[in-house]
Amino acid sequence: MKHLLSLEQLSREDMESILGRVDAFKSGRPQHSRPLQGQTWALIFSKASTRTRVSFEVGIHELGGRPLFLNANDIQLGRGEPIKDTARVLGRMVHGTIIRTYAQTDVEEFARNSGIPTVNALTDVEHPCQILTDVFTFQERCGSIQGRVVAFIGDGACNVPVSWIWAASKLGFELRIAAPAAYQPSPELVRRAGGRVVCTEDPQAAAAGADLLYTDVWVSMGMESEAAQRLKDLAGYQVNASLVRLARPGALVMHCLPAYRGKEIDAETFEAHADTIFTQAENRLHVQKGILDWLVS
Ligand code: CP
Ligand code: NVA
Repeated sequence: MKHLLSLEQLSREDMESILGRVDAFKSGRPQHSRPLQGQTWALIFSKASTRTRVSFEVGIHELGGRPLFLNANDIQLGRGEPIKDTARVLGRMVHGTIIRTYAQTDVEEFARNSGIPTVNALTDVEHPCQILTDVFTFQERCGSIQGRVVAFIGDGACNVPVSWIWAASKLGFELRIAAPAAYQPSPELVRRAGGRVVCTEDPQAAAAGADLLYTDVWVSMGMESEAAQRLKDLAGYQVNASLVRLARPGALVMHCLPAYRGKEIDAETFEAHADTIFTQAENRLHVQKGILDWLVS
């Protein structure tokens, strides 16, 4: 039984197998294969979502399946029914489940107990579908990511940079994370991942000569009570024209979205790179078809 629970748990071979399926789904839309024909896939979401929800619902439909969206608060899970029991019920009714929630352990517990393919659609720890998409988008524009330099600027400890760390260690590129000390990933995690991951408090040093500048919100879902402090602490970590000037000429700027102009990125830089950023958003659809196809193959 295959799952996509994290990039930490996904091998390089499996990453490449997923990425290798995407072109056929992107260029073949809508006449491509329908590996989910006759299947129903549940989406259990405890957090807000635009891109992940829509891309999975449309993607499952276009692969021949039926998506069943379940807001976690509308099912008994929201009233305290254990994950383990929810998993055992859904496992007898649907063919796969996509989960967006807080605790990584909840997704893993669901996978262990459901007996059906389970996908992490974002937890507090990782956002694997996003970073597989980002790698695909980089490679679509610039060729192999191996040996290239990615600079993540902002909250370096949240789910998105953590998935980047695992992608860097497995796909062989350099990742520089620029964040204040309190917003850097744990040294233990960086050590465990291995590879070329550098953490710094200096955004200019991280951006110098980079092939890709990447940022994400300063206040991730679930961190709203820390918003005021975070905006203060992260104020010097904005992707803007002066930072872009330090990167390699023609470097890409990406944002997983949603974007808060004037915070993690300025409006001018966002608009200058909107074509890349919205292609990145569109590619969620194509890459997740690759993920679903890989899961059932
Ligand atoms: N980037 C991303 O996951 O967007 P949503 O929160 O809208 O799904
Ligand atoms: N780090 C962000 C990603 C949003 C797609 C969050 O968790 O809210």
